[in-house]
Amino acid sequence: MGASLRIGSGSVNTQSRELFRLRPWLQGYESMIALLVVVLALLTGSPATNPWIEPARDVLVQACGSCHRPNLPTSNPRALAVFNLHEPVWYATMTDDQLRSLSRRIQGAKVEESDRDIVNSFVNCKLTGACSDARPQESP
Ligand code: HEC
Repeated sequence: MGASLRIGSGSVNTQSRELFRLRPWLQGYESMIALLVVVLALLTGSPATNPWIEPARDVLVQACGSCHRPNLPTSNPRALAVFNLHEPVWYATMTDDQLRSLSRRIQGAKVEESDRDIVNSFVNCKLTGACSDARPQESP
């Protein structure tokens, strides 16, 4: 009687050991998926969460539009290859280095300081995900 009880508990132990062996693999798989979701969110730049996409476009159209907009006598194909202000996602073709350069170049442009802040905030949000430290964009 005692012997059969021991056999029973022995088989339960074997089963749970089987499950235990599977679990690390399952956990690894789940965390891979979670990681993938995070990486995808970062790669797509979460456009909906960057509040400066359109304000920055407005600033750049004025300051840089002569070359970085299509269909003008002054349009420059090489400039448009970097970014095209008429594209729905105007920054889609830009590398991180080009975004940093965008930030630098707007410093030297003849635009208001608040407009420079808008472009810097856009780049900052895009590159670092720091999108909440909004500076006041206009004074009443
Ligand atoms: C006179 C035309 C012209 C104007 C105005 C102009 N760009 Fe450009 N830009 C170009 C051209 C041409 C290229 C491509 C250069 C190349 O392919 O080497 C370029 C490339 C760039 C690049 C990518 C190269 C790099 O530096 O990383 C950035 C960023 C850029 N422009 C930002 C700006 C900003 C910001 C302004 C406005 C403040 C501006 N540009 C105004 C012509 C212009």
